[in-house]
Amino acid sequence: MRITRITLANCRNYGEATIEPQAGLNVFLGRNAQGKSNLLEAIGLLGTGKSFRTSREAEIVREGYGLAAVSAEAVVRSGNVTLGFTIARGERTTRKTLTINGRAVRYAHFLGKLRVVSFAPADLALVVGAPGLRRAFLNLALAQEQPNYYTALAMYSRTLRQKNALLRAGPPYDEELFAIYDRTMVERGARMTLARAQYVQALGPHARAEHLRWSAGEELELGYSSAIGYEVGDDEAALRERFERALVAARPRERARGIALVGPHRDDLTLALDGRSLAEYGSQGQHRTALLALKIAEYRAMAAATGEAPLLLLDDVLSELDPDRARRFLEGLGGFEQAFVTATHLDRSLPDAAAFSIENAHVERIA
Ligand SMILES: Nc1ncnc2c1ncn2[C@@H]1O[C@H](COP(=O)(O)OP(=O)(O)OP(=O)(O)O)[C@@H](O)[C@H]1O
Ligand SMILES: [Mg+2]
Repeated sequence: MRITRITLANCRNYGEATIEPQAGLNVFLGRNAQGKSNLLEAIGLLGTGKSFRTSREAEIVREGYGLAAVSAEAVVRSGNVTLGFTIARGERTTRKTLTINGRAVRYAHFLGKLRVVSFAPADLALVVGAPGLRRAFLNLALAQEQPNYYTALAMYSRTLRQKNALLRAGPPYDEELFAIYDRTMVERGARMTLARAQYVQALGPHARAEHLRWSAGEELELGYSSAIGYEVGDDEAALRERFERALVAARPRERARGIALVGPHRDDLTLALDGRSLAEYGSQGQHRTALLALKIAEYRAMAAATGEAPLLLLDDVLSELDPDRARRFLEGLGGFEQAFVTATHLDRSLPDAAAFSIENAHVERIA
């Protein structure tokens, strides 16, 4: 899939801008604070309906304005599609609208139309940060690949919040309500656990292979650590049983602590290098290389699972590499259906890339 035209209106520092990217590699060059990351964020909004930079979506609306809009024409396997994202900032609330071919759709329907894999320096937290970040990574990748994963996640998360509220309130407990919550969590949670575990299994070989290309022969190994004790070969029914047993065992602890302690909301994606925990033992360079491998693996796994290559958004990743590596890296991107790369400068021009300059939110094709 690829986009042929994207328009931004009052989005971040942009007034009005229209860009026509080409298939293959698109490079955006500009000094700091000109709008490079903002443009990539806007493309990402059309893919995931969410910003990869912030959870405070009101920030996306240009200062002094009330409405931000991004739209793009995309070529996907099923034909041409126009996607739209608008966000209106009111006094206290923000309102988000997602459209396909001009018609407003629900989030679950919007997801997966345009799939993106994004990569920015801040993603390093994925390797070294808290488990919640890695769960979010799995959730976003799976929600783009499988519409019903998102449905299960949304239902699970809502039920988890309700159960936690009940636990926090303390006794006397409404046992019937507990049973209903637990049943929903078991059903949706088993599906989520299986989807995630299988996804990590599919990601593993891609990540290992990519990592070998970028490192000195170290083995990157991915694993899924599950609070309910997932084991390779488990099906959904087996996981429901494990989940039920884990809930019974955890009940006294959950009530004593006032919080739900088992389920996919406590799981983690584990990363090891030559058998040792990457977060604990890895060097900064090793962390970066692993992250790169993980993201390209996400791309390859998504392309394989859906039969369609997603867009690749690379924000500011070249600044981390020496010029020689940066060149080789960019040349390696030539084989991607459509990639967007930002940089403050490039040593030499790239023969097969479209190059754009960005200055104070004005985008111009320069090569
Ligand atoms: N809602 C907003 N309204 C107006 N301007 C904004 C808004 N949000 C962010 N900006 C501004 O947009 C500018 C460009 O930001 P952006 O992150 O895209 O820069 P960049 O080109 O990626 O720079 P760098 O090379 O430093 O990463 C910044 O000056 C920022 O203050
Ligand atoms: Mg930036």
